[in-house]
Amino acid sequence: MFFDARRAHFLQDRLQRRLRECRMDSFYSYYRLLISAEGKHELARLLEDLTVNETSFFRNKAQLELFHKHILDELIRKKEASGNRGLRIWSAGCSTGQEAYTIAMLVADALGYHQLRMPRPAETTWPKPLVPPPWTVEIPASDISYSVLRAGQEGIYSEHQMATVDYNYRLRYFDKVGERYAVKTAVKELIHFDFHNLKTEFLPQRNDVIFCRNVMMYFDEAEQRRLIEKFHRCLAPDGYLLVGHAESLLGLTDKFAMVYRDSGTAYRRIEVSE
Ligand SMILES: C[S@@+](CC[C@H](N)C(=O)[O-])C[C@H]1O[C@@H](n2cnc3c(N)ncnc32)[C@H](O)[C@@H]1O
Repeated sequence: MFFDARRAHFLQDRLQRRLRECRMDSFYSYYRLLISAEGKHELARLLEDLTVNETSFFRNKAQLELFHKHILDELIRKKEASGNRGLRIWSAGCSTGQEAYTIAMLVADALGYHQLRMPRPAETTWPKPLVPPPWTVEIPASDISYSVLRAGQEGIYSEHQMATVDYNYRLRYFDKVGERYAVKTAVKELIHFDFHNLKTEFLPQRNDVIFCRNVMMYFDEAEQRRLIEKFHRCLAPDGYLLVGHAESLLGLTDKFAMVYRDSGTAYRRIEVSE
C-alpha cells in the first residue's frame, strides 16, 4: 500500500487506533508484533482498517453507459459471430459487491435485448432464464479484504446503499427482506467472490473486460505499471480495461488505447508482439 504525504495523516490515525486496541505504546513494538508469527491476525485487522472500501451501485454512470451500449454490444456481436457465447468480466477490487452486481444486471439486460433482436424459435422455458442459453456469463469478483468479500457474498443491502438503484432494477433483480434488499439468487449465481491480492501473479485469466476502479489510485507508480502489465496478460485479445474516474493509464503504458464516448472512458487492449 502506498501512502503519499496527503494520506500520511490517515495512515497515522489508523495505526494509532490499532495501537490503542493492542494496548501498545510505541509504533516500533507494534511493528515487531506485525512481523512476528503471532502478529498474523493483527496484520489482517490492520489491513481491514487501511483499505478504503467505498463503493456504490451504478458508480460512474457515463462509463457504465459506454460499457453497456458499446463494449457489451460489440462483444456480444463478435461472440455471436464466432460461436463462442461465453462472457467473462472481472471486478478486481470489488469491495462489498455493488460493482459486480451492477455488471451482472447490465450484462443480463444486454443479453436479454440481444435475444429479442435475434430471430430464434419461440422460447419454451418459463420463467425466462436470466442468461439466455447457450450464453454463459462468469463474473469473478476479488478483493484482499475478507470482510468485504463476505458482505458481497451475502448480497443484502440497506435502503441507503440502494439509493443509486432505480425502481426498475430493484423490481427485477432484488427481493425485499424486511427493510433491506437481497440480490436474487439467479444474479448471485453469475458471480464468484474470491480473495486475490492484485500484487501477486496468480490472477483470473481470459477476461473479456476487467473493471479495476478506484484501486490503482492507492498504489505507487511502479506498482501501477506492474498491474497494468498483468491486466494486459489477463485480458482476451481486444478486451477492455475500465479504471476509476480519477485514474488514468496516460503515460503508464502503450499497450492500451483509450476509448472515449459521452464522458465515459475505457481502455482497449492492443495486441503487441513481445
Ligand atoms: C475504493 S474500493 C473500490 C470498489 C469498487 N471497485 C468501486 O469502484 O466502487 C477499493 C477496493 O480495493 C481493494 N484493494 C486494495 N488493495 C488491493 C489489492 N492489493 N488487491 C486486491 N484488492 C485490493 C480494497 O480492499 C477495496 O475494497
